[in-house]
Amino acid sequence: MMTKKLSDNLSLFAVSPPGLEIITAQELKTIGIKDPVAAQGGVNFSGNRSNLYSCNLKAGTASRILMRVGKFLAPAFPQLARRTAQIPWELFLIDKDLLKIHVTSHHSKLYHTGKIAEVIMEGIHKRLRSMIKQKNRDIPDQKIFVRIVDNYCTISIDTSGDHLHCRGYRLETAKAPLRENLACGILRICGWEGQIPLIDPMCGAGTFPIEGAISAAKLPPNRNRKFAFQKWPMFKADKDLIHLQENNVPDNLKIMIKGSDNDYNALKAAKNNAARAGLEHLIQFEQVSFEELTLDIKSGFLIINPPYGQRIKNEKRLITFYSRIGKILTQRFKGFKCALLCPDHNLQKATGLSWKSLAMLDNGGIKINLLYTEL
Ligand SMILES: C[S@@+](CC[C@H](N)C(=O)[O-])C[C@H]1O[C@@H](n2cnc3c(N)ncnc32)[C@H](O)[C@@H]1O
Repeated sequence: MMTKKLSDNLSLFAVSPPGLEIITAQELKTIGIKDPVAAQGGVNFSGNRSNLYSCNLKAGTASRILMRVGKFLAPAFPQLARRTAQIPWELFLIDKDLLKIHVTSHHSKLYHTGKIAEVIMEGIHKRLRSMIKQKNRDIPDQKIFVRIVDNYCTISIDTSGDHLHCRGYRLETAKAPLRENLACGILRICGWEGQIPLIDPMCGAGTFPIEGAISAAKLPPNRNRKFAFQKWPMFKADKDLIHLQENNVPDNLKIMIKGSDNDYNALKAAKNNAARAGLEHLIQFEQVSFEELTLDIKSGFLIINPPYGQRIKNEKRLITFYSRIGKILTQRFKGFKCALLCPDHNLQKATGLSWKSLAMLDNGGIKINLLYTEL
């Protein structure tokens, strides 16, 4: 078996949360990617190995970065096995790796996803002449994604490992936490990049203030974690391309970032999470209800992620709560910009404010409308 070298024109796909594809594409451009193309569920782009590494490190809104390693017609299993065995798996896998193979198939002759995974595994064995095991439970070392559409098969290897929202800092959560990459994307959609104070008056585990501090301090969001590609055999020869931990957290920021919540445990989690991110000195935390919150600034950006109906079962109470939010915003926060994550049109109406919808997003299966207004 010949060991191939990987080409420096890699075909990559950044998976992003639904509704954030264009934001992820813009973000990739700022990381130095030429011509990223937003598609449903993510962004197609090409790049070299250095780009692959820096996208994992710096793309705050991406969920994972996949690398296409095979694209071919597979109308029957023999073709699938033969073409899989031609992929240079020795660059990515070692024989004690546990693999997880995710398969989807649409409008194709090969449709039995379990059998497809088996044949792919045989192709990999044939190439490596080793016994890499497929694993369906626990944490696999490497993940392979197989997508067959109209008999055309695309095989990708996951370069990220854990989902990229797992930054490494949020080991404690409160009620209904947002994924970190979704929070990062929401701040970007709203155009907040650290120009004006950021205040999250229902901050839960601190996701918005922490993601805001990362962005304002211009730190790579994923600087405190490892990626799947770091275990690849080809990576060993490539260490010089990695410029991972070269970032200094500033002593302070020019703007204020504040998180508050009325729940003691949420605040405790938020403070501990910020400390783990090394950013606690950049964020003011306060245990206070929104009803009691006062700020000694005249303008800023309020980001509000109130409890959803799913958790507060009493709809009348929820309507009253959102209407109180609206009144407080009008009375106390004139001059502020404000974004509200709202799961329901009646709750939006209950605020009594006029909102612009910036995006429809999905938060753990709940559709949320990202609303924006200037008070
Ligand atoms: C949906 S969670 C926010 C989740 C947060 N964005 C995160 O990622 O962890 C809503 C939060 O609002 C807080 N909350 C509810 N009513 C409040 C009030 N009246 N004043 C302040 N915080 C409140 C809850 O304690 C909870 O932490």
